[in-house]
Amino acid sequence: MKTKLFSIPQPWGHEQEILEVAELLREGALVGIPTETVYGLGANALNPDAVRHIYEAKGRPSNNPLIIHVPSADWLSTYCADVPETAYRLAEQFWPGPLTMILKAKPIVPRRTTGGLDTVAVRCPAHPVALAIIRAAGVPIAAPSANTSGRPSCTTARHVLEDMDGKIEGIVDGGDCSVGVESTIIDLTEPVPRLLRPGGMPLEALEQVIGPVTIDKAVTSEPKPGEHPKAPGMAYRHYAPHAPVTVVAGEPERSAAYIQSRATPDTGVICFDEFADRYPEQIVEKLGSMTDKAAQAHRVFDALRAFDQTEVKEIYAQCPDPSGLGLAVGNRLKKAAGFHVVEAE
Ligand code: TXA
Ligand code: MG
Repeated sequence: MKTKLFSIPQPWGHEQEILEVAELLREGALVGIPTETVYGLGANALNPDAVRHIYEAKGRPSNNPLIIHVPSADWLSTYCADVPETAYRLAEQFWPGPLTMILKAKPIVPRRTTGGLDTVAVRCPAHPVALAIIRAAGVPIAAPSANTSGRPSCTTARHVLEDMDGKIEGIVDGGDCSVGVESTIIDLTEPVPRLLRPGGMPLEALEQVIGPVTIDKAVTSEPKPGEHPKAPGMAYRHYAPHAPVTVVAGEPERSAAYIQSRATPDTGVICFDEFADRYPEQIVEKLGSMTDKAAQAHRVFDALRAFDQTEVKEIYAQCPDPSGLGLAVGNRLKKAAGFHVVEAE
């Protein structure tokens, strides 16, 4: 299959391309689409065959459900049952944006899309191209991150091409993703809302609107064999570069020194910008300033991906503290490390 590249430069509004992509999706094709978090591998969420192709193209286990993308909260009542008032409050505050809600699914949502569950993940992405495509398609678009299963998520159209060339009908280039980590996932089907995956919307912001949120165990530790996290995707070793990763937590000056004392010429280093010149013999990927977690979220996947083009034998990564977007950045680094974390004393 020849993968067609749709280039939609700013300012957006290339009607013809949007309509062509929407038509492809309606017909059951797979198209890589930009969102503000990461690129998605989109298909018509109501078409079980199209959805099956998503799993095949990604090499994703079929029990790992997909997020359906909608253009506004008005669509919630069509696809979800018993929508709690908290869902509308969150949507009002944070949609379009990097927030996914788990709600009860109506039967119109195919079980293949929900990985066999009776709940469905819903999100309204804050990217004008994604919104225009979904509106024009007139159906919710199921879209997991566009990476091959197990690889870091894609934050540029070039990443999507690396992973999906020849496997999907098209890729829409909507520029670099502004957020850089996937959406925050909150489960609203329990009496107390539960954070299933930290992401582009900080937990603190959600708690300001809906009060206390429980943090699922899979956010901070690796599920043990036989344990089934509520977001099935959290069970998989994700975002893993080829070389093994060690995450170094603790105050930045200390974690930088810890890495410095262990690094060899075969070591790759992911560090805050302030410490980059401490590692003259190493291949260094800068994560952004230690005071700028938005920059770190923006960089984290590209940094992890970059080492696969090198010969490094091990990777050390500095880790931000868990407040704000630090919870998501730290979670992605720790998952890449298989939760191999050391504390710099
Ligand atoms: O930012 C994002 O969320 C991106 C963009 C493309 O929107 N999408 C994304 O999708 O990250 P994916 O498939 O890579 O991650 C979705 C996660 C998986 O861990 C999956 O297990 C979980 O959401 N999930 C989906 N439906 C669920 C459900 N009904 N209950 C619990 N977890 C669910
Ligand atoms: Mg993913």
